[in-house]
Amino acid sequence: MKSALILGASRGIGLGLTSELISRGWQVTATHRSAAPELAATGARLAVVDMEDDASLAALAAANAGSSFDHVLINAGIAGPRTVTASNVTREAMEQLFWTNAIAPIRAARLLLPLIRDGGSIGFMTSQLGSVGGRSHGYAELYSASKAALNSLTRSFVALDVGQRPVAVLNLHPGWVRTAMGGDNADIDVATSAHGLANVIESARPPGQRYLDYSGATLPW
Ligand SMILES: NC(=O)c1ccc[n+]([C@@H]2O[C@H](COP(=O)([O-])OP(=O)(O)OC[C@H]3O[C@@H](n4cnc5c(N)ncnc54)[C@H](OP(=O)(O)O)[C@@H]3O)[C@@H](O)[C@H]2O)c1
Repeated sequence: MKSALILGASRGIGLGLTSELISRGWQVTATHRSAAPELAATGARLAVVDMEDDASLAALAAANAGSSFDHVLINAGIAGPRTVTASNVTREAMEQLFWTNAIAPIRAARLLLPLIRDGGSIGFMTSQLGSVGGRSHGYAELYSASKAALNSLTRSFVALDVGQRPVAVLNLHPGWVRTAMGGDNADIDVATSAHGLANVIESARPPGQRYLDYSGATLPW
């Protein structure tokens, strides 16, 4: 039986992917920070984690010491103050956005990498909006910058932490998905995104790092 650890699975894409992997026979440990009745109903093993709390991440790593996950997915993220720009955002709002979307995922990854088996993979839920090379518009500039920062930090993570370990690294774009974050007008539903992401995760083979969308298409950095 394959096993996964998914951080940020109370709702949205994390919840959908938890259900999808369990339906494919995976054993999933899924984290939430507040009450998550839908997640509990999936049959996942549950753990409480706040990504912004180092002690919480350390406790997760300690509780799973000795585990050998096939995949760890760091999915949690926030939209942040989308209607403001670099010109008028507050320091506090920017700190929160960058901490949750860029710094916390790398801190988590560094703690959890030892829990991934050789031949397994780690995924970061970034976004197509985090592509610098593919950017030709100004939509959601602060959120996009936070995901670009995450993409950059994952490159450092590969160089400094993964090194020669046979662990694949996936920077994932889930599509524009109808969730609390994506909104009602988004392109696809959670099930479609989760199905595609599960295919991408099941196909991941080390070595190397890839920036892929839910259909497996490569995105420009
Ligand atoms: N939806 C889209 O179209 C889209 C597109 C590109 C990328 N993404 C990315 O995909 C990921 C999931 O997005 P979504 O659409 O499913 O969003 P969502 O419905 O808003 O869910 C966000 C999830 O992240 C968790 N989370 C946020 N901050 C956290 C923290 N500090 N500690 C622990 N958990 C935290 C939330 O937990 P709580 O329930 O406790 O708040 C929730 O489970 C995000 O990284 C997002 O940036 C989404």
